[in-house]
Amino acid sequence: MEILHNPSLKSFNTFGIDVKAPYLVRVNSLVDLQKAYDLPELRDLNKMALGGGSNLLFTQDFAGAIIKMDFPGIEVLDETESHVIVKAGAGVVWHQFVLYCIEKGWAGIENMSLIPGNVGAAPMQNIGAYGVEINSVFESLEAWLPELGSTKTFSKKECQFGYRMSIFKTELKNKAYITSVTFKLSKSPKINTTYGAIENELNVMGIKNPGIKDVSNAVIRIRQSKLPDPKEIGNAGSFFKNPVISKSQFEAIHTKFPEMPSYRISKNEVKVPAGWLIEQAGFKGKTYDNKYGVHKNQALVLVNYGGGTGQEIYDLSTKIIDAVLTTYNIELEREVNIL
Ligand code: EPU
Repeated sequence: MEILHNPSLKSFNTFGIDVKAPYLVRVNSLVDLQKAYDLPELRDLNKMALGGGSNLLFTQDFAGAIIKMDFPGIEVLDETESHVIVKAGAGVVWHQFVLYCIEKGWAGIENMSLIPGNVGAAPMQNIGAYGVEINSVFESLEAWLPELGSTKTFSKKECQFGYRMSIFKTELKNKAYITSVTFKLSKSPKINTTYGAIENELNVMGIKNPGIKDVSNAVIRIRQSKLPDPKEIGNAGSFFKNPVISKSQFEAIHTKFPEMPSYRISKNEVKVPAGWLIEQAGFKGKTYDNKYGVHKNQALVLVNYGGGTGQEIYDLSTKIIDAVLTTYNIELEREVNIL
């Protein structure tokens, strides 16, 4: 266990927001985690789990103790001719895990290459990209629940996965410390290139019969061309969810704005790309005070060029929500956790 006193959190969040917390405790085992909770100086403080810090926005100092989940390790629990059950510690970097699995020939997560963050945070918002979400390969997870004083195994059903959603963002918000996640991956890959951009990219790369490594490379190329690298420009990926609206609401808006793209997701529901709405509202590529703004290639991503505060970025997100609501009568919802 490592205890940092009054550290800057700038390097612990991918937006690069320079706020502080009285304590940051790095833990890499269950014993450590429980010990951290029992430390007399931490006992009465508010606490929060932190992974890679890639899906949150600090709008102020955190008044309490941050528990940085560094649990390491990748372990095969079971293997058959067709599948492998593999468990990864919460602190394993997601993309490193993806590359490890691709190297072994285990398929199912290659479309989610290069998503920032750690394994432990992946189920929280049911991360997804290019036609695949984590719930499609999820087997179970283990979490320590301070209220119970013990760990609990969560099945897929118990996680209540939805679009960028799980029980850990609702009922169990701030109540569970995910320590490891177990996946079921396939040894006979079913390549998924249904998301248009992948097919195009594979064509550009001149690849006819792609393997999982090729799909991963295509996704990496697409992401690098569209999304800012948090190591270079502060950001937390998509700041908003793509709104899901009713068919009747969609039809009413569509008569006024026939060029609005949409994806039918059920008989009565339609998903609309938030990036398009934000772009149409005139925010794409806008920079404020030379410090923060909206990314030039993907309007769904708010960026901190350096020196922007969390409050300024939050206020910009409110401005965007208001503008989209006024023009399109669609209410955008933030996807990033606001603290
Ligand atoms: N679009 C615009 N302008 C923009 C951005 C997008 O018009 O500035 C429109 C275009 O019509 C485009 C469509 O939006 O065809 C879809 O864009 P894109 O393929 O970039 O995907 P997205 O819907 O904007 C979602 C995820 C991303 C994920 C991509 C690819 C959410 C909130 N975001 O974005 O996830 O990488 O699909 O699967 O669902 C993340 O969660 O952090 C993230 C980056």
